[in-house]
Amino acid sequence: MFAPILTILCFLMTVSLPASALSYENLKVDYPNSPNIPKILVYTYTDGYRHDSIPTAIEALAKGKERWGVEFEFEFEEDKGRFTDEGLQWYDAIMFVSVTGEALDDEGEKAFQRYLQKGGNFIGVHAATVALPQSDMYKQSIGALFEWHPVLQDATFKKEGDSHPATAHIPNGWRFGEEVYYFTSDPRDNGAVVLLSVDENSYNNEGYQSSNGNPHPIGRFDDECIRWGVVIRVLVIKELEADKLPAAWYIDPPKTSQPLAEGISKGGRVFYTALGHSNETWQDDIFMEHVVSGLIWTLNGATTKAYNQGQVGCEDPRPPPPPPQTSTATTEGGERGAVASPTEPGGQVHLANSGTAMRIVESRGMDVSLCFVLGFLVGYYVIV
Ligand SMILES: *[C@@H]1O[C@H](CO)[C@@H](O)[C@H](O)[C@H]1NC(C)=O
Repeated sequence: MFAPILTILCFLMTVSLPASALSYENLKVDYPNSPNIPKILVYTYTDGYRHDSIPTAIEALAKGKERWGVEFEFEFEEDKGRFTDEGLQWYDAIMFVSVTGEALDDEGEKAFQRYLQKGGNFIGVHAATVALPQSDMYKQSIGALFEWHPVLQDATFKKEGDSHPATAHIPNGWRFGEEVYYFTSDPRDNGAVVLLSVDENSYNNEGYQSSNGNPHPIGRFDDECIRWGVVIRVLVIKELEADKLPAAWYIDPPKTSQPLAEGISKGGRVFYTALGHSNETWQDDIFMEHVVSGLIWTLNGATTKAYNQGQVGCEDPRPPPPPPQTSTATTEGGERGAVASPTEPGGQVHLANSGTAMRIVESRGMDVSLCFVLGFLVGYYVIV
């Protein structure tokens, strides 16, 4: 009944503002108390459909520190046999990149769950929700399982909030060629907090009706609109959320990290993104920052050995920091002097400056008092 009013107001409020700059500042690995390097096992086993972007994904991740400026190590694996307590104990996170089908045997599943219970983290990318379709444990761990997708085409993804490092840098209304994933259930039922959703008006879904009700009506509601519509937020937000088709989320911690292993105070974190189908996506800086930031966010739950916690994780020490680099500079008077590069306090590591360190993102909003007036107006209509 009030949707048309909201649509009009949201339209009014979607007034573009001057662009603002964003940096990689949110990408910190906070392991000040530990000398250890986080280590990540990237699993790309496929049983059924195999994405030809897997080698591109491996290549992008393997650039590691050189590209991302963050001190962590990736190891790539396709062998199910790695999924034992001993085989997993060295990793601070396990990442499934487009894994499909029966990717773990029964013992492997148990080892995977024990890994979460010991504080291990899990990241799923794209077809990771196509893996282990029969496993309730896996479904609860990753949040939901894949159901169907329309053909690859341009679609628009919307942020749900601005504060999570995996999406903080993403432009509002991020549009590119992707498979829009539908899931057999709502990941929120497994404790997921949705970070990105799909604008239902932005692609053609070929008339398909998901068995998961109709998870779709979204896209007309702008973050800012909801934020300023104070009354709506209280009255309708739950209903809105239940209708959105999620594209990326986190779970902290997953149900399957219970019961915790003895001596552990918190289970590992989970991050999942449905994006990542094509080579181009894995070569895109916005996407890579999304994945790498999601990964770092799971690590920063500080439940593994890289943080002197937990029962899993890498104990290899980081090399000692290099002495501050000096370079020479010439002053106006022609004197040459040493210029020290800034050192990082508290052992924090930031992503290195790169050509994309500063990225322009779209930002929107409007005069605050006007937003309040509109918010109350909408609330008024909702109540009467
Ligand atoms: C993606 O990259 C892989 C490996 O680099 C290549 O074999 C494949 O053909 C590419 N796929 C497309 C659709 O270009």
